[in-house]
Amino acid sequence: MTEESEPGAGDDPERAGADDVVRRERFSGGPARGFLSSMDDDERIFAADLAVDRAHVVMLAEQGIVDEEAAGTILAAVDDVAAAGFDALPDGEDVHAAIETAVIDRVGDVGGKMHTARSRNDEVATCIRYRLREDVLDAIETTLALREALADAAGRHAETVMPGYTHLQPAQPTTVGHFLLSYEGAVARDTERLFDAYDRVNRSPLGSAAFAGTPFDVDRERTADLLGFEGTVANSMDAVSTRDFLVEVVAALANLAATVSGLAEDLAVFSNKGLVELSDDYSSTSSIMPQKKNPDTLELVRATAGDAAAGLNGLLTTLKGLPRAYNRDLQKATPHAWDAVDAVTEAVEVAAGAAATATWDEAALADAAGEGFSTATGVADLLAMQGVPFRKAHEMVANAAQRAGDASENGADYAALDAAAESVLGESLDTYVDRESVEAALDPEASAAARDSAGGPAPEAVATVRSDAEASVEADADALAAERDALASADERLRTEVSRYD
Ligand code: ARG
Repeated sequence: MTEESEPGAGDDPERAGADDVVRRERFSGGPARGFLSSMDDDERIFAADLAVDRAHVVMLAEQGIVDEEAAGTILAAVDDVAAAGFDALPDGEDVHAAIETAVIDRVGDVGGKMHTARSRNDEVATCIRYRLREDVLDAIETTLALREALADAAGRHAETVMPGYTHLQPAQPTTVGHFLLSYEGAVARDTERLFDAYDRVNRSPLGSAAFAGTPFDVDRERTADLLGFEGTVANSMDAVSTRDFLVEVVAALANLAATVSGLAEDLAVFSNKGLVELSDDYSSTSSIMPQKKNPDTLELVRATAGDAAAGLNGLLTTLKGLPRAYNRDLQKATPHAWDAVDAVTEAVEVAAGAAATATWDEAALADAAGEGFSTATGVADLLAMQGVPFRKAHEMVANAAQRAGDASENGADYAALDAAAESVLGESLDTYVDRESVEAALDPEASAAARDSAGGPAPEAVATVRSDAEASVEADADALAAERDALASADERLRTEVSRYD
């Protein structure tokens, strides 16, 4: 170690060497060394950078920018750096500088040709996109698992009647299948948003150099193809500057986390009411109260929405007002995306497990379904079907509810309704509708079954939505597999091209 290369504040004493090829002696020391470094976050893009290096060198050779022998030497050194692993990298300002340093350490000056016609600016943007693709596909996969769990449970409970709530107050009877598919539909849109974001992540900035392009005859389409990108980000200044693709991904994740936080909240509330029981695997207990079984996992799922929203806010705040082109602020934008994708993917996985293994208590649900006179709307609908204006029918049933007061937990019975009819409509109830139909309307199960409009809680309506949901999960799984295949075959292509230089 030379004097200048003594570790400064924030340096990693574990790493060999100190002066990377970028900083050299002039910028090698100083108290801000550690502050400048992104090495801790860069492990995540180590493999991405190796792929980007390989694709770039292959393209340089194909274009005659470096000769084949030099390309072969560099590619062999890159393989060697890959085999040694991230922890063996020399110290550096970031993984890009450290890998380049490691290549030059191995093969000498010829290694310095690797960085021809590029900059760390296009390099890092490419690496982030390359790695993020995998993460977005993993996140999509967990949304599919959750949707499958919801659709499966909906199939088991298409006919299980339950109370439906608005304002957390009993509102109308529904079915568990209907409730679960309401979340499946929402998560399906989250899947769609992630796919949509993926398409724009999947563009290559490589070949833009610092921002102003390069006088070398680079083939940007070629490196894009070797790295599995669907084309390039055309304008070289835009390509190195933009992180809008991070915003799109984190926004989609934040919305997904918000969706799932609602599911977690509902399940926690329902378990509090004894309507559903969480599996022990997704529960926790108290260190002092031995009887406790708490929905801690759901609470952490719920809280993840806060982390994701904070990440989105942090990211946008970092990006706001950044001038063209590259600014080092961008280094701090990236970890927001890694944090969000990790946290949300894990939370969705846990939510899927909790939903799949929860036990719905059919008897308790049936008992609760009629609570709070939740069938009142059904009685008003019945009268409206007989030609009573809905507003009048609403007034009459409200009158009955008032008569029943708090005396009956489940609201007005036939007698109260009949009295209300006399008072509000001026006729007895059986003038409008027979008693049997009124009793049926007061029954939660019959009430839910009667709501058979498209997308409603009736078992047939639930079955239709469920089979559509299953078909859409399948279609999304096919689309996911196609994206993964595209990445795998690009990987194969790159490997084959690299092997030509052996
Ligand atoms: N570590 C940097 C980042 O994440 C790489 C780019 C450095 N470029 C530069 N011009 N300083 O953004």
